[in-house]
Amino acid sequence: MAPPLLHLRNIRLDHGGRPLLDGAELFVALGERLCLVGRNGSGKSTLLKIAAGIIEADKGEVFVHPGATVRYLPQEPDLSGFSTTLAFVEAGLAPGDDPHRARYLLEHLGLTGEEDPANLSGGEARRAALARVLAPEPDILLLDEPTNHLDLPAIEWLEDELKRGRSALVLISHDRRFLENLSRAVVWLDRGITRRLDRGFAAFEGWRDDVLAREEEERHKLDRKIVMEEDWLRYGVTARRKRNERRLRLLNEMRQSRRSERRAEGTVKMAASESEASGKLVIEAVGVMKSYDGRPIVAGFSTRIQRGDRVGIVGPTAPARRR
Ligand SMILES: Nc1ncnc2c1ncn2[C@@H]1O[C@H](COP(=O)(O)OP(=O)(O)OP(=O)(O)O)[C@@H](O)[C@H]1O
Ligand SMILES: [Mg+2]
Repeated sequence: MAPPLLHLRNIRLDHGGRPLLDGAELFVALGERLCLVGRNGSGKSTLLKIAAGIIEADKGEVFVHPGATVRYLPQEPDLSGFSTTLAFVEAGLAPGDDPHRARYLLEHLGLTGEEDPANLSGGEARRAALARVLAPEPDILLLDEPTNHLDLPAIEWLEDELKRGRSALVLISHDRRFLENLSRAVVWLDRGITRRLDRGFAAFEGWRDDVLAREEEERHKLDRKIVMEEDWLRYGVTARRKRNERRLRLLNEMRQSRRSERRAEGTVKMAASESEASGKLVIEAVGVMKSYDGRPIVAGFSTRIQRGDRVGIVGPTAPARRR
């Protein structure tokens, strides 16, 4: 394998209580494109922040190849302290970087560069932040949910841009198609540890289900063994003899390992009583209008939403505007 640009080894971190990361690994080589996946709250953003040097692990090693450039897109970007989006993007460039890329990227992300960061929508802020990390074409891009708030054409454009670029990628995204199109390896974060698959995201779910099924099978085997040994302990007349102490000790070890095991999440059954339905009509809106500084956002909007309706709201992201 190519030498690493970035290598996190045996990373441990807890926020008080059970460790969030318990020996996690992340290996990124030149030009590699990997995605980091795991359930909500499994610690993906935290691991990426450790890779970016934003937070420190409790234990473990963080190696970044000397001279390698790293850029990190946070899940919640902060643009405060800049007067325009262009100034914000340009501040991310290093001496020698192509200054034209700042404008090129802003334009392709639907921004003019003149927007005041204080008045941006969540989507606009994220697009500006994306332009800022892409502009210097770093050796490694660490991207936490880069497609959030992007409309479909913008997502396709970003895919192309990342495919054509030279940067190694670590992607966190809930957009499956985006991950399938881009990733060549998957790092799965689950119950504090990472497992790596050297294939794209399209192969991930089948592989994960196999891993979980094998784990479940091992657990059943252990359970059966414990039951057998407990029967022997209860009914066997020889259990208390000296030479059987080892067998007893082994049983206790199995019990201990069963107790300390972390089970896969998602096996909980829940039931909740429903409150009594209070009516069929949930929202009725007639002729709603809203504008900012004379720019209409909603005009003449009417709708009726009834209990049980499932409504999708779609539309392009805000177009670039001049002030
Ligand atoms: N500074 C902190 N102090 C205490 N707990 C924290 C802190 N930061 C994160 N956590 C907790 O750590 C867990 C993992 O958070 P993290 O943001 O890394 O998850 P994630 O995998 O990125 O989730 P998502 O898919 O929702 O973005 C969460 O339970 C979160 O509440
Ligand atoms: Mg996250």
